[in-house]
Amino acid sequence: SANQMWGGRFASGPDAIMQAINASIGFDQRLYAQDIAGSRAHAAMLAAQGILSNKDAEAIGEGLLTVLSEIETGNFPFRVELEDIHLNIESRLTEIVGDAGKRLHTARSRNDQVAVDFRLWVRDQCDAAISGLTALMQAFVTQAEAGADWVMPGFTHLQTAQPVTWGHHMLAYVEMFARDRSRFEDARRRMNECPLGAAALAGTSFPIDREMTAKALGFDRPTANSLDSVSDRDFALEFLAASSITAMHLSRFAEELVIWSSAQFRFVRLSDRWTTGSSIMPQKKNPDAAELLRAKLGRILGATVALFTIMKGLALTYSKDMQEDKEQVFDAADTLMLGLAAMTGMVGDMTANRETLKTAAASGFSTATDLADWLVRELGLPFREAHHVTGTLVALAESAGVDLPDLTLSQMQGVHPGIRDDVFAVLGVENSVRSRMSYGGTAPDRVREQVARWKAALG
Ligand code: ARG
Repeated sequence: SANQMWGGRFASGPDAIMQAINASIGFDQRLYAQDIAGSRAHAAMLAAQGILSNKDAEAIGEGLLTVLSEIETGNFPFRVELEDIHLNIESRLTEIVGDAGKRLHTARSRNDQVAVDFRLWVRDQCDAAISGLTALMQAFVTQAEAGADWVMPGFTHLQTAQPVTWGHHMLAYVEMFARDRSRFEDARRRMNECPLGAAALAGTSFPIDREMTAKALGFDRPTANSLDSVSDRDFALEFLAASSITAMHLSRFAEELVIWSSAQFRFVRLSDRWTTGSSIMPQKKNPDAAELLRAKLGRILGATVALFTIMKGLALTYSKDMQEDKEQVFDAADTLMLGLAAMTGMVGDMTANRETLKTAAASGFSTATDLADWLVRELGLPFREAHHVTGTLVALAESAGVDLPDLTLSQMQGVHPGIRDDVFAVLGVENSVRSRMSYGGTAPDRVREQVARWKAALG
C-alpha cells in the first residue's frame, strides 16, 4: 500500500529492498528526545502565532510527552515502513491525539526537522566531550602534582634526550586536552544557531517566529539562510574533526603506556582494572585498554573522512546522501566518550616506578647537554666546540662501558684540560632538571607553578 505520509501521489509502496536502503529508523531513533523537543517548541510557536489553535497545540504537546514515555519505557511501536524517527513519532502522535497530530507539520519539513534534531544531539555531545576532557585533565594534573620532581628520561626519536620530570610530561597532555576542549567549546558556539523554520529549503509563507523556537531550544539565534540551514553539516564535521584530534592525543598517550608498561621499560604499572592476562603465558599483563585506545582513532578519523566524502559533492540543498551522516557521528561520539572514560580511569590508576624512571633518566648520556652548557658557561667555549668536546667524552664513556658521571676527572681532562671537579654537579639528573628553569621548562618549581595554574583553572 502507498505511504500514509505522501501516498497521494503514489500507487504502490516501496520495494522491500528500497525500504531496507532507505529506512534510517534503525539508527536515527537515537534522536527521539531531540525530535520531540523540536516538535514541542514548533507546536507552541505555531499556537503563539495563531497558526494552530491552542487546543491542538496542547494536544500535541501532551501527546508528544506520551510518545516520549512510550519510547523511554520500551513500549513504542517502531515501524520500518515509516522510514525514520520523524515520521514514526508524527504517525504515533496522530494515533494518540487524532487530527491535531496531522497539523504539527505545518510550516516545517523533515529537512529542517532533522537539521535541528541532529544539531541538538551533536551539541549535547560537545558538552559531554568537554566534561569528559575536564575529568581527564584532572587525572593528569593529579599525576603531575604527585610527581612534579620525579626524574625520567625525555625522548626525541624515542632515544634518550634529556632528563625531564614526570610532572612535566603529564602536563604536556593537559595542554593537548585543553586545546581539544577549547575546540569543542568553539564548535559548540558556532553550531548554536537554530535551523528550524527553514522548512524544506526556502522558508515558509506562514508567519512563524523563529526567534521563539530558537530560544525555546537553547539556541543563540535562528540561522540566517534557509538554503544553508538544511544543507549544512559543518557542525557535525567540526565535532568529528575535534574528536579526531582528541583521539589522536589519546592514541599518543596510549602508545606511551604500551611502551612504558613493557618489561623492558617498566616506567609504569597499570592496575589490574585496565589490563588483561594471557590464557597461555601466566606472567602476562597486557595493556589492552591502551592498545584499543590507540586503535580507536581509526574509527573516529574514519567517520570524519566518511562524512567529508559524503558532503563534498552535494549540490545545495538537502540530498538523501545526508542521511548517512548520523551513523558516522553516533559511532565516533560513542567511541570518543568511551575512550575518554577509559583513559581517565587508566591515568588515575597507574603507578609510576620512580626508581626505574630515575635510573633510566641517568642512562644514555642524558646529561650530555648539561655538560656542553657547563663548558660554555664555565670555560667560555663556543657552543659548537663544547658540543664537540662533549661528544668526544660520550664516545670515551661508551667505549669504557660507563655513563658520563662515571668518568674520572683525569679522563675528562684528557679530552679538555680546563675541565674541573665541579663539572660533576651538572652531570646528576636532579641538578639537570632543576636547572631547566626557563618558562615552560621542566624544572620542578616550574612544574609546580603550572600545576597550581591548572588546579585553579579546573576548579
Ligand atoms: N531521515 C532523513 C535524514 O536523516 C530525514 C530527512 C528526510 N528528508 C527528505 N527530504 N527525505 O536525512
